[in-house]
Amino acid sequence: MDTLIYYRRDLRRALPRKISPIPIRAARPEDEEEVRRIAAEAFRGYGGHYHADPRLDPMKADETYRDWAVRSCRGELADEVLVAAGEGERLSGFITLRLNGPEEVEGRLFAVSPEARGRGVSRALIVEALRWCWQRGARHMLISTQITNIAVQKVWIRAGFEPSHAYYTFHIWFD
Ligand SMILES: CC(C)(COP(=O)(O)OP(=O)(O)OC[C@H]1O[C@@H](n2cnc3c(N)ncnc32)[C@H](O)[C@@H]1OP(=O)(O)O)[C@@H](O)C(=O)NCCC(=O)NCCS
Repeated sequence: MDTLIYYRRDLRRALPRKISPIPIRAARPEDEEEVRRIAAEAFRGYGGHYHADPRLDPMKADETYRDWAVRSCRGELADEVLVAAGEGERLSGFITLRLNGPEEVEGRLFAVSPEARGRGVSRALIVEALRWCWQRGARHMLISTQITNIAVQKVWIRAGFEPSHAYYTFHIWFD
């Protein structure tokens, strides 16, 4: 079984102040390979929805995240990808955003490369993502993760997200 928990941030409430020195910008076409690298490193063996199913090949589960990240950069699975990087520096993290409708933006893939963790990169990304949503006139931002992913839930709660709803998936194969 796995449990996907959704968090919601009301954008009518004041946004967190932008105090981080970490620069965040929209991804460019040339960032695709770096976004792919971060997805590969961050989600390798991740305790996620696909990895939770013992009948799914863990290598294929890893690949799903790489593919998802690349297709988000190409605009197939996301409306925007924000990346953390100074000019001329390697990227340290990214978040993909999808407009679910005029009032709702969903954060989909979110990752920081292992060597850049513990420095507030995910906080800087989520603050900028909230600003992106607000600038588009959305009323709230939605985002989800596995309930076991404590680190990312801390980041979201500190940015004003609240638990919304959850789904269990029972990985039962009837054969
Ligand atoms: C989740 C992720 C983006 C956070 O990266 P980050 O910005 O470097 O965040 P940190 O490592 O500073 O962790 C945030 C907080 O959680 C804490 N934390 C980290 N791992 C933890 C754990 N296993 N249990 C409890 N707390 C934990 C950190 O200590 C930190 O709290 P602090 O500020 O009080 O010290 C990064 O770990 C990642 O990319 N993980 C893999 C992909 C992923 O899980 N994506 C999100 C799901 S879509």
